Amino acid sequence: MQSEVITTPSRQRELELTLIYQTAQQITQLQSLSELLPHIVAEVSRTFNYSSMGVLLVDEETNELVVRETIGLEREKHLGFRVPVTDAVEGGICGWVAYHGQSYLVPDVLASPRYIRTVEATRAELGVPLKIKGKVIGVLDVQSLAVNGLTERDESILSTLASQIAIAVENARLYEELAQAHAEIQRKADQLQRLLARTVDLQEEERRRIAADIHDSVVQLIYGAMYETEGTLQRLPEDAAAQVDLHNIQVSLKQAISEIYKAIYDLWPASLDEMGLFPSLRSYLVQYEEATGIGCRLRIQGNPIRFNPPARIALFRILQEALYNVRKHAQAHTVEVIFTFQEGRVKVVVQDDGIGFDQEKALAEQQHLGLISMRERAENIGGTFTIESWPGRGSRLAWEFLQPKIERVEPND
Ligand SMILES: Nc1ncnc2c1ncn2[C@@H]1O[C@H](COP(=O)(O)OP(=O)(O)O)[C@@H](O)[C@H]1O
Ligand SMILES: [Mg+2]
Repeated sequence: MQSEVITTPSRQRELELTLIYQTAQQITQLQSLSELLPHIVAEVSRTFNYSSMGVLLVDEETNELVVRETIGLEREKHLGFRVPVTDAVEGGICGWVAYHGQSYLVPDVLASPRYIRTVEATRAELGVPLKIKGKVIGVLDVQSLAVNGLTERDESILSTLASQIAIAVENARLYEELAQAHAEIQRKADQLQRLLARTVDLQEEERRRIAADIHDSVVQLIYGAMYETEGTLQRLPEDAAAQVDLHNIQVSLKQAISEIYKAIYDLWPASLDEMGLFPSLRSYLVQYEEATGIGCRLRIQGNPIRFNPPARIALFRILQEALYNVRKHAQAHTVEVIFTFQEGRVKVVVQDDGIGFDQEKALAEQQHLGLISMRERAENIGGTFTIESWPGRGSRLAWEFLQPKIERVEPND
């Protein structure tokens, strides 16, 4: 039971005004309901000495009021207690208040058929609606142990408070919804990121397998055919007409092998594992320049590190994709790949002198996945991706990584 606090009328008035002011202040702070409601009931019942006080909120699905917070007698018993929103007697006093959106003062509960006996000692009860834009979202309920222990004065003060409490409750509710939605989005984004990373890994595994298969089967068969033509050639007399044909076949077979090697290299640059990123990149750029006529330059600034295997393959694929875009879209004369190692960070830039593009538009186009995959690949190894491009002034794609995330630490990793 609350201890009796004896206060003068003017002191009491001051406390009430302070309470109203404090409640108003809480409205501007975003708090969760579970923080806000105990605070409100504690403040109100301390100031007014009610024997008990509760906040009931409407459950729209069931059209019931649920006791969300309460203080005073038999608290635990009442939390979660439900009454229907109705003006029939089973709604009790609070059900009636929610139904009509008006406060209801019962000076002597034992004389009211509507009273639901929850606390044996209660003698007076007052319910005040919590409303937002005319819609009832809950009820503030206070009780007293004395007949006539609650008056119209309580009704008037609580009504003032109720409008502020309603706003605070609504804010807290919106805040909770927002926090939940935010957590949900974050969870989905994390899932998607993991899924993408896994897909990329599987794709690399698959590419590696196909490259190895082609190398072990097709390439070996062609080599076999070359040896046989060589043998046949030696057995033929010098001047046989078939010699020319066989030479031509040999040239075709050599071409076939070199084409297949190019394809295998695109699928899986084995040199990455053996020699590391820069030698592989250099030989890729030589091939690229030959095939496209676009002048390439690789610049390395600062002290290069050795990359770990996930970073090696991610960087190689990112650059492959970026260079492929330059070839396909940029109409560039030159392209530069720049690595900068500085202060624990690694920056990678691909810069061309081509026609440029509108990055917002390019990233928004759902069917183009190159730029998006460059970003995802980078994020998978903890990096970030930025594009600077202006129509007519070339493009500059930049990635930034934290050195410890991409550096090779174990000699055999
Ligand atoms: N280096 C570049 N120069 C000019 N335009 C580019 C360049 N890179 C990308 N783009 C533009 O951005 C678009 C999106 O690129 P991307 O996501 O790789 O998809 P895709 O290459 O399949 O079209 C391209 O269609 C192109 O218009
Ligand atoms: Mg592309």
